[in-house]
Amino acid sequence: MDLMRNYPQIPDLERKARRRIPKFSWDYLAGGAGDESGVARNAAAFEDITFSAAVLGAGARPGTPDLGIELFGRRYALPFGVAPIGNSGIIWPRAAEYLASAAKEADIPFCLSTFATSSVEEIGPLVGGAGGNGWFQLYPLEDSEKEDDLLRRAKQAGFGVLVVTIDAVYPSRRARDVRNGLSVPPKLNWKNFAEMVIRPAWCLASLADGAPKFKNVLPYFPKNVTYTRIADMLGQLLSGTIDVPHLERLRKVWDGPMLVKGVLSADDTLRCRDAGADGVIISSHGGRSFDGFPGAAEVLPGIRAAVGPDFCLGLDSGVRTGTDVAKAVALGVDFVLLGRAFMFAVAALGEAGAAHAIEILRIELKSALNQMGCTELAGLRDMVNQQGES
Ligand SMILES: Cc1cc2nc3c(=O)[nH]c(=O)nc-3n(C[C@H](O)[C@H](O)[C@H](O)COP(=O)(O)O)c2cc1C
Repeated sequence: MDLMRNYPQIPDLERKARRRIPKFSWDYLAGGAGDESGVARNAAAFEDITFSAAVLGAGARPGTPDLGIELFGRRYALPFGVAPIGNSGIIWPRAAEYLASAAKEADIPFCLSTFATSSVEEIGPLVGGAGGNGWFQLYPLEDSEKEDDLLRRAKQAGFGVLVVTIDAVYPSRRARDVRNGLSVPPKLNWKNFAEMVIRPAWCLASLADGAPKFKNVLPYFPKNVTYTRIADMLGQLLSGTIDVPHLERLRKVWDGPMLVKGVLSADDTLRCRDAGADGVIISSHGGRSFDGFPGAAEVLPGIRAAVGPDFCLGLDSGVRTGTDVAKAVALGVDFVLLGRAFMFAVAALGEAGAAHAIEILRIELKSALNQMGCTELAGLRDMVNQQGES
């Protein structure tokens, strides 16, 4: 099948994914907190950014612009990577394996969630072990011994960059999940059962892979814990709060670059920098934790201005196209992560979806640079319109 012809854009994969997975999985993937205005605001913030149409002066002929970036002394082939996704196994079994392998192949970052349904030990080799493409996302844990052990395992498995998430320490309220009775483990009521059986590809893949398990944190559950108590166990593991001393502690424990994810203000960015973080990821968790926060792209210029040109900034939340990646880079980020876009791709096409989504975004980004006569990513910064310009 000619994937590019059938699915030339991420929204094509989104539509296909919606038809291919059960409604409770779809809602878990696509939904947002509260009235979901945070999800919409992330998208709107990107729509509002435009580039200068004055391309005659650019001079460069369309070609093969350099899309590579350097982060923490290492080169990546593209300025975007895969965001951490918890409980990904209920969206598509082995999604983390597929995305990790495709990220390694394309030489882009892959970030594994604390609450992934694949373990650091399973994913580490797929992302190339030490010096490879693996980043590990940590939800701060209550017990520092368990936290240290998890970080030790991630390091040993070859994950080089630590990403500490600070924006989902308090459980979020997503109405779609509440309505569906989505729980850990999933409730097998008649409604959910009926939704599963009309999605045979998902059912077969799920049967082949077995029930999803939170493999990174399983060793920290008490022995003989029953499957029905997993949600309680997960809740008890989390610290429920995060503060600067906790970040400072993690800074001492983790030997390698440390990023803080879920930052939306200049003040917090400066606090993270002072606590020893090597960078922050501007993110509203894709609008999943709270519907009252601004869009990520909206706050980016203010954060870059406050922190100066050299501090590493990443961004996620609302990125769906290569043009969005170009916009974020133009406004001053060093890299971008995408969550739902990659999961739509795997839910739509299974293993083949991972590489296909990367290719869509690469082509769109290359096209954006060529449209504006930019030969490298840095050129985008001269082309982005400040508010009111055209
Ligand atoms: C289904 C789902 C699960 C997620 N799980 C995690 C997680 O375990 N840890 C984390 O830091 N962020 C998690 N996120 C947030 C993503 O890492 C990322 O911030 C978000 O998806 C970016 O927005 P986008 O989906 O619009 O690209 C999750 C997002 C989704 C959609």
